[in-house]
Amino acid sequence: MKLTVIGTGYLGAVHAACMAEIGHEVLGVDIDEAKTAALAAGRTPFYEPGLQELLTRGTASGRLRFTTSLREAGRFGGLHFLCVGTPQRPDGLGADLRHVDAAVDGLAPHLIPGALIVGKSTVPVGTAERLTARLRAAGAPEAHLAWNPEFLREGHAVMDTLRPDRLVFGTGSRLAENVLREVYAPLIRSGVPYVATDTATAELVKMAANSFLATKISFINAMAEVCDAAGADVTVLAHAVGYDHRIGRSFLNAGLGFGGGCLPKDIRAFRARAAELGVGPAVAFLAEIDEINLRQRRRTVELATRLAGGELTGRRIAVLGAAFKPESDDVRDSPALAVAARLHREGAVVRVHDPQAVDNARAACPQLDYAARVDKACEGADVVLHLTDWAEYRALDPDALTPLVCRPVLLDARNSLDPDVWTRAGWRYAALGRLGAPAQPSSDTPAQPSPDAPDQPSPDAPVQPS
Ligand code: UDX
Repeated sequence: MKLTVIGTGYLGAVHAACMAEIGHEVLGVDIDEAKTAALAAGRTPFYEPGLQELLTRGTASGRLRFTTSLREAGRFGGLHFLCVGTPQRPDGLGADLRHVDAAVDGLAPHLIPGALIVGKSTVPVGTAERLTARLRAAGAPEAHLAWNPEFLREGHAVMDTLRPDRLVFGTGSRLAENVLREVYAPLIRSGVPYVATDTATAELVKMAANSFLATKISFINAMAEVCDAAGADVTVLAHAVGYDHRIGRSFLNAGLGFGGGCLPKDIRAFRARAAELGVGPAVAFLAEIDEINLRQRRRTVELATRLAGGELTGRRIAVLGAAFKPESDDVRDSPALAVAARLHREGAVVRVHDPQAVDNARAACPQLDYAARVDKACEGADVVLHLTDWAEYRALDPDALTPLVCRPVLLDARNSLDPDVWTRAGWRYAALGRLGAPAQPSSDTPAQPSPDAPDQPSPDAPVQPS
C-alpha cells in the first residue's frame, strides 16, 4: 500500500521505517529540513536500537522516502498516519495540540477524495472528533479520520512496532477498519491481536494504559518508602508480589521513578482532560502518582547529601546515567538529569557519564561536567550515583573503581546493581527501599529541595528518605 507518515520525530521515524519494512511504499513528511535530509540519506537523527538497519534497507529499496511538502504528501495516496508531537502545554497541564492541528490544516487542501487520516499521536479523548470537524471546515468533506494509538517504548521501538502486544483501531466506519486491517495484515497474520472500536475509546486506551503503568511504578516506589521506614527490602517485596499473575512483576522496579516524553506529560494531560469533561475526581489519584514520582528525585538528592557527609558544597559526585531510561539518548524529563542538576545547584561538583545521552544532556544542562568513560566520571568521587539502568553499569567491576574514587560509596537509585558484589569489594552500598539505606537522617542535612528545582516538587511534600 502507499501511505504517508506526517511527523518524523521519534514515533513517526520508527513507524515509517517499520511500515516500509513490512512492504508498504512510504513517504515520511516533516517541516524540519535538516531532519528530513538526514532521514532521506538513511541516517537516524536519534539513538534507537535496530532503527538504523531498517532505515538503510528502506531508503536503499526505494520504498521509504522523505519530503517536507504536505502537498506532495496529499497527492501521494489516500492514507496518512499522523505522528506529530503532542508536548505538555507551558502551563504544565494539558496537551499542546498545535502540531496536530497544523498538520491537518496543512494536509486538508491537498487530500484526494475519500482519503483516510489515521492519528497515532497520544491525544486527549475527543481529538479525532474535533479534527473531523476541522477537516470539514478546511474544505476536505470527503476525508475520514481514525485513531490507532501507538504503545511503543523507547529503546524497544522497532520490536514494539513490528510485534506489538495488540493493535487498537478506533474508526467510525467498517471501511476505515478494513484499511487498517490491510495495513497491518502481516502483523495480524503472525498472531498480533487487534481491538476494533470507536475513536474516543481508542484515544482513551492509550491514556489509560500509560496511567496504569505510571501508577504501577509509583505504587512500588511508595512501597519503597515504607520499606525504608520499616527496614524491609522493596526488591524482594516486588519479586514476591509479582508472582501473583493478577499483578505481574513488570513495571515494579522501585527507584528513581519515571520520566521521558510520555508518562509524566500523559498523566497530567489526562487529568486536565478529565477535569474538562467534569470527571476530574475520577482521576484525581494521578496527582498523587505524579507527586510520589517526583518525591523519588528529592529522596535521592537527600540520600546522596547524607552519604556525602551531610553537606554538598565542594563534594564530588559521579553520576552514572543521564537518559531517562536505558537504551535511549532521550533526556526529556529525565529523573537522572534532574537529580544531577539539583546536586550541582546545591554546590556539588557533578560529573555525568552516559553511554548514549551525553550530547543531549550537555545541551539541556551545560552547567554540568561530562565524562566519556565511567572511570573518568568516578575519579576523585565522594559518592557514585547510579541513576539510569544501563546494562553497562550492571557489568561494572567495583574493584577497578575503588582506587579511583575518594571514598567508595555507591547510591544505587535503580536497585539493579548487586549489593553483595559491591559490599564485598569494600564499598558502602545504599539504595532506595532496601536494607542498605542509611537508617537516620543526619540533623544537618537540608531536608527541603530548593524552590527552583526543575522537577516542580510541591513545597509541603514530606521528604523522609529513610
Ligand atoms: C512509555 C510506555 O511504556 C509506552 O507504552 C508508551 O507508548 C510511551 O510511554 P517509554 O516512555 O518509552 O514508554 O518508557 P518506559 O519503558 O515505559 O519507561 C518509562 C519510565 O519509567 C522510565 O523512566 C523508566 O526508567 C521508568 N520505570 C519503568 C521505572 O522506574 N520502573 C519500572 O519498573 C519501569
